[in-house]
Amino acid sequence: MSQESPFIEVRDLHQRFGEQHVLRGVTTHVNKGETLVLLGGSGGGKSVLVKHFIGLLSPYSGQVIVNGDDISNMNERQLGKVRQAMGMMFQNGALFDSMTVGQNIAFPLRERGFKDEEEIQQRVLECLKIVKLPGQEAKMPADLSGGMRKRVALARAIVDRPECVLYDEPHAGLDPITGDSIDHLIKDLQNNHGMTNIIITHEMRSVFRIADRVIFLKQGQIYWEGTPQEMKDSEDPELLDFIEGVAREEVAT
Ligand SMILES: Nc1ncnc2c1ncn2[C@@H]1O[C@H](COP(=O)(O)OP(=O)(O)O)[C@@H](O)[C@H]1O
Ligand SMILES: [Mg+2]
Repeated sequence: MSQESPFIEVRDLHQRFGEQHVLRGVTTHVNKGETLVLLGGSGGGKSVLVKHFIGLLSPYSGQVIVNGDDISNMNERQLGKVRQAMGMMFQNGALFDSMTVGQNIAFPLRERGFKDEEEIQQRVLECLKIVKLPGQEAKMPADLSGGMRKRVALARAIVDRPECVLYDEPHAGLDPITGDSIDHLIKDLQNNHGMTNIIITHEMRSVFRIADRVIFLKQGQIYWEGTPQEMKDSEDPELLDFIEGVAREEVAT
């Protein structure tokens, strides 16, 4: 795993919506092949930040560099190429309820103009195997559990063989055991398929299990970054406050 070649670089990124200044000079990077966890309070700009990584939002100011290319001012056609390298599991990532599991997973390929049905089917089956749902391609989403739906969404995110997968709260709404199975898949994609993972989550147990590195967004900036071990050892009051707050919420729910 190379620490020297960032897959994504963010330089002094600002984003605002009207009067609301959500990102206030974010500077950070994501290394190739690492699993990075992004922590931060609700409404703090985590989803907004990762949307810049795939050009779903363009910076108010600052730069986002992906695979060496500045994507800040790219047009949709140029962004199409960048997005090919990125799979995204959106927050509450809904499946299309009127499509089968297989059709859901095939969707990004068809969107991109894949015509070879045999290749499409082969990729769908391969991805279902990776997410440990072999043989489920003909099911309808409504017939699946929450955890299975998440895994189908993950299969859809990786069907175009991205280099990097973005997960926006993949553990939300899952019981601990199902959450664990998502963690296993995330590590499997990293270790056996060479993927770079970027994960937004509040599940601290998962953070310690899967993260190579953690960044903590606060007041629109990267307030802290380090390894899970460094986080355990940290005495930073703001960081501890956040972690304890998350733990309290977990006990409360
Ligand atoms: N497209 C948008 N237009 C206007 N405001 C937005 C938009 N996207 C996000 N926001 C606002 O930016 C803030 C940060 O949102 P978000 O990144 O979704 O937070 P979180 O850290 O919970 O993921 C919120 O106040 C949200 O309402
Ligand atoms: Mg969010």
